[in-house]
Amino acid sequence: MSNNRSHETTTRPPSRASRAADQGLPLSEPIIDLQQVVKTYESASQPFTALREVSLQIQAGEFVAVVGKSGSGKTTLLNLLAGIDRPTSGVVSVAGSRLHALSESQLAEWRGRTIGLVFQFFQLLPTLTVAENVMLPMEFATIVPAAERQSKALALLSRVGIQDQADKLPATLSGGQQQRAAIARALANDPPLLLADEPTGNLDSATGTSILELFATLNAEGRTIVMVTHERDISGYISQQLTLLDGRVADGAQPEADHIESAEVRL
Ligand SMILES: Nc1ncnc2c1ncn2[C@@H]1O[C@H](COP(=O)(O)OP(=O)(O)OP(=O)(O)O)[C@@H](O)[C@H]1O
Ligand SMILES: [Mg+2]
Repeated sequence: MSNNRSHETTTRPPSRASRAADQGLPLSEPIIDLQQVVKTYESASQPFTALREVSLQIQAGEFVAVVGKSGSGKTTLLNLLAGIDRPTSGVVSVAGSRLHALSESQLAEWRGRTIGLVFQFFQLLPTLTVAENVMLPMEFATIVPAAERQSKALALLSRVGIQDQADKLPATLSGGQQQRAAIARALANDPPLLLADEPTGNLDSATGTSILELFATLNAEGRTIVMVTHERDISGYISQQLTLLDGRVADGAQPEADHIESAEVRL
């Protein structure tokens, strides 16, 4: 990840992409590329600009934490990356698609195969079982053949450690189990990019740590992760930190190099 204002002067820790370059491997385009992105909400009283000319790139394979005070624009940024919302101006490119060029139906199809979303309050459908919740995105995207959806859902639930909860309704699970189910649902169509908005915000600290470890493992398997978080002690899990300040990317937002070393050992 880099933001255009600081990457000339900041010593960045080695990302997977830069390690690839060191090894003479070809560098692909960034998986996320924002150019001069502005988001102004037109509310009834007066317009409010939540993102101000944000330009940044995130390479495939990164685990990026988005931090910043309440109201700094973190969720707004995530919604633009997911194509849930559109910028007022500027260009958002994700996984090779310039999102403004897509119609709503193209965007929905693109989102289904590209993005896995995880939220603070899990947002599982209460009347479906855990396994049915995981199968739902497969039914929308029709990437996974119908005959394989149930076994894939069970495999994903096993992957996140709650296969024994598959036939229960979400309300009967603990918070940590519900978040694991939501992560399994986010993985349903095997997306390259996971976007998470305060995924540990509603969990106790030990459960939150186990969810962060799950994200770190998914990242080590090659998924790019952008996670909004208020957690303090995240440097051991992430590869980059992006700080938002009043809708802008703050300079000097990189975590310390020794923490990154420990992140690499861990991954
Ligand atoms: N739909 C909307 N209409 C008007 N203003 C909005 C809307 N959504 C967000 N905002 C404003 O934009 C700013 C950024 O909001 P955003 O939700 O991105 O913040 P955040 O960094 O995610 O905060 P938090 O940590 O509290 O979740 C806030 O001042 C918020 O009030
Ligand atoms: Mg938010």
